[in-house]
Amino acid sequence: MPRTDGEQALIERFSNTYRHLTQSETMLEIERAVCGCDYGCTSWTTREEADDIGNILGLGPATRYLEIGAGSGWPGLYLAKRTGCEAALIDLPLEGLQAARKRADKDGLAERCRIVQADGAALPFPGGRFDAIYHSDVLCCLVEKQAVLEECRRVAGNQAKMVFSVISIATGLSDADYGTAAAGGPTFIESPMDYAEMLACTGWTVTARGDVTAEYSETFAKMFGFEKANVDEIERVHDAEGAADLMARRQRTLEALERNLLRREIFAAVPAG
Ligand SMILES: C[S@@+](CC[C@H](N)C(=O)[O-])C[C@H]1O[C@@H](n2cnc3c(N)ncnc32)[C@H](O)[C@@H]1O
Repeated sequence: MPRTDGEQALIERFSNTYRHLTQSETMLEIERAVCGCDYGCTSWTTREEADDIGNILGLGPATRYLEIGAGSGWPGLYLAKRTGCEAALIDLPLEGLQAARKRADKDGLAERCRIVQADGAALPFPGGRFDAIYHSDVLCCLVEKQAVLEECRRVAGNQAKMVFSVISIATGLSDADYGTAAAGGPTFIESPMDYAEMLACTGWTVTARGDVTAEYSETFAKMFGFEKANVDEIERVHDAEGAADLMARRQRTLEALERNLLRREIFAAVPAG
């Protein structure tokens, strides 16, 4: 499926981000303080949330786990290490996947973790291959949301579970507030329909839906606070223009969060009947 210029630009931005985050000890220190991990994470999934998700998915040594948009290995490699599951991690930016490969080698996970460059909308796996599927804040970073959920359904076994977090625009907003939310959220936050409806359209039954906006706001505020206090390091790793762009995006997100225009949710689903 051809990618738009906007999607390609976002993949490049993620690629740069993975290189910067994984090569700066200061940025990794911030990540430890905010999210409890040091993989170069770009989602808002904290270690506590990752542990909960591992439990919901029932991960263990016999589980075949797939993570879409796995970045530089968070939280897929962490969950593989903690639970002993067999993992496949896919994403598009090579820089992230290379960092994930290094981390898997360092953590002794190379034998049971496959790290593959692939599009979530065209997965290179046979049908029914996985018992557990996860993606953290990925659907709001891509256009082909429905195609990704369809692919997840195709590669899910009949007894599989899928969990994902996603950031969306709060409902019932005026046009002006909708615009502020869209500008403050992830690049492809706009969705043609509610995610519960999209899951139903793609062969999934929702088993749980939880609102984690408050946790997201708290994690975001901590992260932005550390970033502002370490702006010199951000300018060093990103260059002045990249740092200014990041801080401007953070400011827009802060405004949208303070005005309750964004929402972050976690969905759990199983293959429909
Ligand atoms: C918010 S990041 C999450 C990354 C990582 N899981 C984490 O928690 O740090 C979203 C990820 O989705 C990936 N992504 C965007 N479009 C994608 C696509 N079409 N297929 C697979 N991954 C994609 C991005 O490259 C990015 O790494």
